[in-house]
Amino acid sequence: MLKSLLSLGVELNQIHDLDILMERILERARHFSGADAGSVYIREGDRLKFSYTQNRTLERRLAPGRKLVYTTYSIPVDKTSIAGYVAESGEFLNIENVYDLSDNLSYRFNKEMDTLADYRTASMLTLPLVTPTSGTMGVLQVINAQDDKGRTIPFSTEDEEVMFHFAALAAVALERAQITRSAILRLVEASALRDPLETGAHVNRVAEYSITLYENWARCHSVPEEEITINRDVFRMAAMLHDVGKIAIPDRILKKPGKLDSEEFERMKEHTFIGARLFQPFESAYNRAAAEVALCHHERWDGKGYPGCVEIMTGAPCKGACQADGSSGTKAGESIPVFGRIVALADVFDALSSKRAYKESWKEKDVLAYIRNEKGGQFDPELVDIFFDVYDELKRIQDFYAHPEPSAG
Ligand code: C2E
Ligand code: SIN
Ligand code: SIN
Ligand code: FE
Ligand code: FE
Repeated sequence: MLKSLLSLGVELNQIHDLDILMERILERARHFSGADAGSVYIREGDRLKFSYTQNRTLERRLAPGRKLVYTTYSIPVDKTSIAGYVAESGEFLNIENVYDLSDNLSYRFNKEMDTLADYRTASMLTLPLVTPTSGTMGVLQVINAQDDKGRTIPFSTEDEEVMFHFAALAAVALERAQITRSAILRLVEASALRDPLETGAHVNRVAEYSITLYENWARCHSVPEEEITINRDVFRMAAMLHDVGKIAIPDRILKKPGKLDSEEFERMKEHTFIGARLFQPFESAYNRAAAEVALCHHERWDGKGYPGCVEIMTGAPCKGACQADGSSGTKAGESIPVFGRIVALADVFDALSSKRAYKESWKEKDVLAYIRNEKGGQFDPELVDIFFDVYDELKRIQDFYAHPEPSAG
């Protein structure tokens, strides 16, 4: 037991993606304690968000290959629920049967959960996810310990000890993911400081347009809703950072009031791979997506974009065959990652619609004519169709940033 716990710690440390890591922790925690089901709640301010869940009994009722779909919900961090109590007090609770809780206790089991899922919860072990520096980050819960005949039994003292170990691993993983996230947001702020006139609102609009296009594209391609939800967050930050490489471009070019000469434009083009470089090593989903977007947001569907296949450390053309079809050099069509194709469209829509140091804003009808005309040229034709399908929504985003609503409070 000790040996497998120790090697587990090493294995989990090699997983950098929060979602994969939390799934794995939950799976192993259930396995070690013999639990039928388990959940992880993540704290967001004064609420606990139900974030990951597994349930063997319910999974068995599904057709093979199908995954359970849970509605997402959150509960307050307070003493009225079991998970809320654990998060607030920092104490663990080992409950033999959630239907036999004494009325004297402040917390209740929410029976609605069982009714909705057609499941019968009995024993439940709930632990806080705590780190010394961040405090309580969430809650780990395992449900219905089973004996070797499949009968539900209470969780033992030994289970408690093993679960403390898992809770510590999960807490560290969560903390690490939040540090990644806040570091990325600071990078967005740093690039806005460099170029405050153009960067601030541009970055937010491009991110919002990009997510709207992505959601519609993903539904057309039958991407599961859970994956869309995860990608939204990752892609929003990546889109915000598409031009982060411009921090390395000198002011005389970046802020030039007139047209760039060809040498200046060559220099400007470097913002793509310089941006991508900042996210190495690509150890998390955020880093991978941000690098992809920075590198590919000026590629064109017809292959005439830049920088093409380059070594991101030097900007020199790749030597090896770096395309799926074995070719090297340019990137075109679906060999451009979809996040890159989407930001390419969102970025130009915003750049044409806006005044820049070097140009006036274009009239709406000219912007739309340009985009329609570049369908299959500069832009992915499918994305151009989606663009016009959701144009109302894009317009609302544009209006919002033109006349931001007074913030409440
Ligand atoms: P940006 O101003 O945010 O523009 C993003 C992209 O929108 C451009 O990528 C281009 O594809 C499109 N775009 C912007 N304005 C026009 C336009 O008037 N006509 C057309 N057809 N497309 C337009 P691109 O060209 O690769 O430029 C990348 C970045 O380089 C620009 O970002 C801007 O920061 C800078 N840049 C490009 N041209 C000039 C220029 O003439 N003067 C200055 N000062 N900067 C420029
Ligand atoms: C650029 O894309 O770098 C230029 C402008 C932009 O991407 O917003
Ligand atoms: C990490 O690498 O620290 C996790 C970030 C993530 O991919 O969610
Ligand atoms: Fe750019
Ligand atoms: Fe841009």
